[in-house]
Amino acid sequence: MKIGFIHSLIRKDEKLLIAEFNRRTNVDLVRIDSRQFLGDFDGMNASLEQFDGAIERTIGMTEGRYMAMMLEGYGIPVINSSEVIAICGDKVTTSFRLSQSGISQPQTGIAFSAESAMDLAERMGFPVVIKPIVGSWGRLLAKINDRDALEAIVEHKLRLGNFTHSVIYMQSFIEKGNRDIRAFVVGDQCIAAIYRESEHWVTNTARGGKAFNCPVTDELNDIATRAASSVGGGILAVDLMESQDGLVVTEVNATMEFKNSIKTTGVNIPAHIVSFVLEEARA
Ligand SMILES: Nc1ncnc2c1ncn2[C@@H]1O[C@H](COP(=O)(O)OP(=O)(O)O)[C@@H](O)[C@H]1O
Ligand SMILES: [Mg+2]
Repeated sequence: MKIGFIHSLIRKDEKLLIAEFNRRTNVDLVRIDSRQFLGDFDGMNASLEQFDGAIERTIGMTEGRYMAMMLEGYGIPVINSSEVIAICGDKVTTSFRLSQSGISQPQTGIAFSAESAMDLAERMGFPVVIKPIVGSWGRLLAKINDRDALEAIVEHKLRLGNFTHSVIYMQSFIEKGNRDIRAFVVGDQCIAAIYRESEHWVTNTARGGKAFNCPVTDELNDIATRAASSVGGGILAVDLMESQDGLVVTEVNATMEFKNSIKTTGVNIPAHIVSFVLEEARA
């Protein structure tokens, strides 16, 4: 079986996946490096046709999305698909999909002007959280306690930000204690989960959050897998918070980082990922 490995910089996560693919005797793994990729819409990419399946592991989601799309043009199943990557790369579309599927999330809304952002916040009630619609690792998140702070943040975004900041994406602030949950979903199963504990309300491990094993209860498995399928399904990391009213989904991530969660959870995450990619590959 010929599997394409779409990547940019090879991090420890990618090394673990490559080692796992190499352990499988029936797999011929071919690397597709975004830094050398040359996409031509007039058939110059015929060499891509040879793959039975592919996995997308680039760091910036844009190049991975388009490379996945070009392989899909040849009927090759790519995990995750270009559509899933596009949805997860955009918090507005993710929230829209979650709400369409009736999955609990914090009260969420969007606005395009300072006035409507103020109205939205008044309706939700302070504090509110504002996030960039594209981004990760907990960067540029703002918890806003009052009108004055909201006015300042929104003006900065609208005047100084690039075009993605012209969308004000707002959520009610969830009193979640000192932790949230990251659930690892592969196909139709939540294979593992971690708590991310922090003194700060932003609990990302990239921001200093500490990881602990989180038991996968039926409730967690149910909401995490439903969140994953609402964005199209595949290999997805679902972020959740424990609110007063039960679990709510914060976001769904398409190219999940897992290297620090293997020991913590005792689950061989790369083995699950590789098996799923091989199952999905064309016969
Ligand atoms: N509405 C919210 N209320 C309380 N905490 C939040 C809220 N949204 C996000 N957080 C905290 O911030 C972290 C990062 O938010 P997230 O939406 O996952 O953005 P990123 O893509 O940067 O990871 C979450 O893991 C959670 O700890
Ligand atoms: Mg997150």
